[in-house]
Amino acid sequence: MIRLDGKEVSLSVRTEIKREAEAFTQAHGYPPGLAVILVGDDPASSVYVRNKEKACVEMGFLSRKYELPADTKQADLLALIDTLNRDPRIHGILVQLPLPKTIDENAVILAIDPDKDVDAFHPANVGRIVEGNYSFVPCTPAGIMEILKYYRIPIAGKRCVIIGRSNIVGKPMALLLLEQDGTVTVCHSKTENLTEITRTADILVVAVGRAKFVNADMVKPGAVVIDVGINRTPDGKVVGDVDYESISLVASAATPVPGGVGPMTITMLMRNTLTAAKRTAERKNQG
Ligand code: GUN
Repeated sequence: MIRLDGKEVSLSVRTEIKREAEAFTQAHGYPPGLAVILVGDDPASSVYVRNKEKACVEMGFLSRKYELPADTKQADLLALIDTLNRDPRIHGILVQLPLPKTIDENAVILAIDPDKDVDAFHPANVGRIVEGNYSFVPCTPAGIMEILKYYRIPIAGKRCVIIGRSNIVGKPMALLLLEQDGTVTVCHSKTENLTEITRTADILVVAVGRAKFVNADMVKPGAVVIDVGINRTPDGKVVGDVDYESISLVASAATPVPGGVGPMTITMLMRNTLTAAKRTAERKNQG
């Protein structure tokens, strides 16, 4: 079985982004800029935000981090977003989720200028993905598509099964695979005869958030298995939604956890930020 190495793909994409970012900065006199907002002190979110900042520095981007207390008022967060929407040096805005329960996540997503929405969570950007006419794609499905492309895994005409229907992963993943002419089925917690369906998959994407949920019985011989899960076992180990050892006897290729989809997500955020900067500059040139 081939191990689909997300670190290797990520490195290759980052080299390209860095080169393009340098050219952008040379041409315009300022770098692509990303603002990341973290509300509260969730430890996992803090780690993600720190890694995003590190990636920005590595790519030569401007990085601005806003760490707000957990009791921040929604109006104050919306006011900050409004300021960043109008800041010409900031091309991408990311509000780290989840937010404290006192803040309406939807209202926050709606407040971000769709042209700076590098998460692609705003309904305007979701709609563009549905139409197949988009600039930003949510980072996790975008990263998966990049892995499939890097390893030249054919999608057209193939049966693609996704387990999980979240707005961040499952739904956009289905649209991207469909756009590449895959035959797509989305399964979820209410799906009957799940194994029967997953065993038809040439490409199986698993995003359920349950440790080792998929085993060899659920995988068709020769399938490509993509594991989106990040689960912590009681002894602190990180494991995916797929039992990698079990499926390695059946699948033709699979992403490991860690080192598969995970390393791609921040890289795709960098790509979206660069895209946002380029689009803004183009619009300015057109007057
Ligand atoms: N929290 C976990 N993943 C993500 C993500 O991709 N974007 C944002 N904004 N928050 C997250």
